[in-house]
Amino acid sequence: MRLRGRRILVTGGASGIGRATVGLFVREGARVAALDRDEPALLRAAASHDGGPGLATIVADVSDEHAVERAVHRAVAALDGLDGIVNAAGVDLVRPFDETSADDWGRLMSVNLLGTVRVCRAALPAMRAAGGGTIVNIASGAGLRPLEGRTAYCSSKAALVMFSKALALELARHEIRVNAVCPGVIDTPMFRASYESSDDPAAELERIMDRFAIKRVGKPTDVAHAALFLSSDESAHITGSALAVDGGRAFH
Ligand SMILES: NC(=O)c1ccc[n+]([C@@H]2O[C@H](COP(=O)([O-])OP(=O)(O)OC[C@H]3O[C@@H](n4cnc5c(N)ncnc54)[C@H](O)[C@@H]3O)[C@@H](O)[C@H]2O)c1
Repeated sequence: MRLRGRRILVTGGASGIGRATVGLFVREGARVAALDRDEPALLRAAASHDGGPGLATIVADVSDEHAVERAVHRAVAALDGLDGIVNAAGVDLVRPFDETSADDWGRLMSVNLLGTVRVCRAALPAMRAAGGGTIVNIASGAGLRPLEGRTAYCSSKAALVMFSKALALELARHEIRVNAVCPGVIDTPMFRASYESSDDPAAELERIMDRFAIKRVGKPTDVAHAALFLSSDESAHITGSALAVDGGRAFH
């Protein structure tokens, strides 16, 4: 029960890393609001967690400023305050630079970077009223080291890492800690979609794994446990970090 009594909003809670985070946080005693734009998937995910009355579901698109304001308001009302956020909503794009349109760039930035910015801004008054809290932004190893065919994705995630650090500096005086988690390859629908459409998925997966010291695809819970640590008092002296949970890619 490492999060007993904490009130936490998790975006992207319908799938993959966000879904695993919701499940783990509920088991660790937190009251959780799970936000996602995919309503059917969100309701299915919520039904799979034994969250009891402590688990709220909120349908919203983080690229919509007003929807985010309403959603955060609802989360604060449902949880009776807010002590933490895990921003896991995100989208991928594997596309050569010369085929990546201005709309593609806008969409990636609007979800991966500005979606998190919007949620943090809307949640700040409630977190200050709570006397402090934690923000964990799920960035990516792609924000630390470049990947070919992913200029927009890598740029959005590198910006998210730096946003997390700059925000950590600004919010320390309010007792709000901000950290980024940088996953490598994690077995989720997003990761599977990135290689399963290639001509030879098995060969593509082998090529991807070549970059990693640990030769296995990570589990969503590998990342959820890092978010748990950074959301709990065990990490009370850690802010502004970018923690690689990447099977050993970024360090070499
Ligand atoms: N899976 C990986 O290998 C990997 C690696 C590095 C980083 N990440 C990051 O982890 C986060 C979670 O990814 P995942 O692999 O669990 O993906 P996923 O596709 O399984 O889950 C992402 C969730 O975010 C939701 N979402 C997307 N856009 C949204 C929006 N505009 N508003 C609200 N919800 C939205 C989706 O509906 C989905 O439920 C993402 O930010 C991703 O970039 C994933």
